Amino acid sequence: MTGNQTNGHNVNGKYAVITGATSGIGLAAARALAARGANLGLVARNAAKANEVAAKLRASYGYRITVDVFIADMSSQRSIRRAAQEMYAQCPKIDILINNAGAMFVDHKLTEDGLEMTWAVNHIAPFLLTTLLLDKLTLSDDARIITTSSHGHKMARKGIGFDDLSGKRWFGFWGKMKGGPNFRYGETKLANILFTAELANRLQNTNIAAYCFDPGLVATNFNRDNGWMARMTTAVMMRFARTPEKGAETLVWLAGADRAHLESGGYYADKQAGTLSAQASNMEAAKKLWEVSEVQICASQA
Ligand SMILES: NC(=O)c1ccc[n+]([C@@H]2O[C@H](COP(=O)([O-])OP(=O)(O)OC[C@H]3O[C@@H](n4cnc5c(N)ncnc54)[C@H](OP(=O)(O)O)[C@@H]3O)[C@@H](O)[C@H]2O)c1
Repeated sequence: MTGNQTNGHNVNGKYAVITGATSGIGLAAARALAARGANLGLVARNAAKANEVAAKLRASYGYRITVDVFIADMSSQRSIRRAAQEMYAQCPKIDILINNAGAMFVDHKLTEDGLEMTWAVNHIAPFLLTTLLLDKLTLSDDARIITTSSHGHKMARKGIGFDDLSGKRWFGFWGKMKGGPNFRYGETKLANILFTAELANRLQNTNIAAYCFDPGLVATNFNRDNGWMARMTTAVMMRFARTPEKGAETLVWLAGADRAHLESGGYYADKQAGTLSAQASNMEAAKKLWEVSEVQICASQA
């Protein structure tokens, strides 16, 4: 592999759609991709933040790239569908889709589609956005879908709780006492890996590859809105965390590395194949997850 390929320099001239680029790993990735000549579509819920990021990127790199902003709240299927429609109308092509936005909720909240929040934002949103954009990605000669997963998927030791997709068991008094919301988060990051594996299966013999990755423990704004306890724990953990730029390295590498050296459906960490839990290699669960996710995205279609 050449230096350019390992550093993801061959994203030059590609169009990358990225969610969660207003903060942390996504923001660092957007900067790195822009510096390497990628045109960007930033998908964000907060227009002011997104426009500020876009303006800074244009000021630095606008002489060679375009930066578009699409507004979507990843907890709302209607909002995701609207943004996808705008992308079809506005983007000449999409080469790279980066499903990076993510969050963890410590209370059992439901979205307008009736899904539990952590599940909806971390798994259903990437599932829906990806399936909506597939036709557009088909037009690229080297399309990639990259999803930000986590080593935290190993917390889901029993796999996806298909009999309790709303995750209620994690949020009751005893569930919370045992750290339930963290396990729920782990379940969604496991879902990212199973989704990627099944997506790659379904995209065999196409121009579209799917990858997911673990950024490591990264100092970002993650888990800062969950009260003083979460803020304190996160502040302690962040002392051991890497920078967002370091956390984004594998993502940027997957966006641009020679695909002959990558395995579609694969899980990566530190620019190499990562270690999966047993549950993350369960292709039966991956197929089942796809089927139940299809049912869960029907709600907003009516
Ligand atoms: N930090 C870590 O140690 C770590 C480790 C492993 C995996 N990850 C994963 O890395 C990804 C990025 O997280 P981060 O650490 O960079 O955290 P972050 O700094 O909190 O960034 C999260 C991004 O997601 C966006 N987002 C959250 N909820 C959204 C929603 N409902 N609609 C639209 N956008 C939404 C945020 O937008 P706003 O700016 O509007 O809030 C922000 O841009 C997540 O998928 C996370 O699970 C993080």
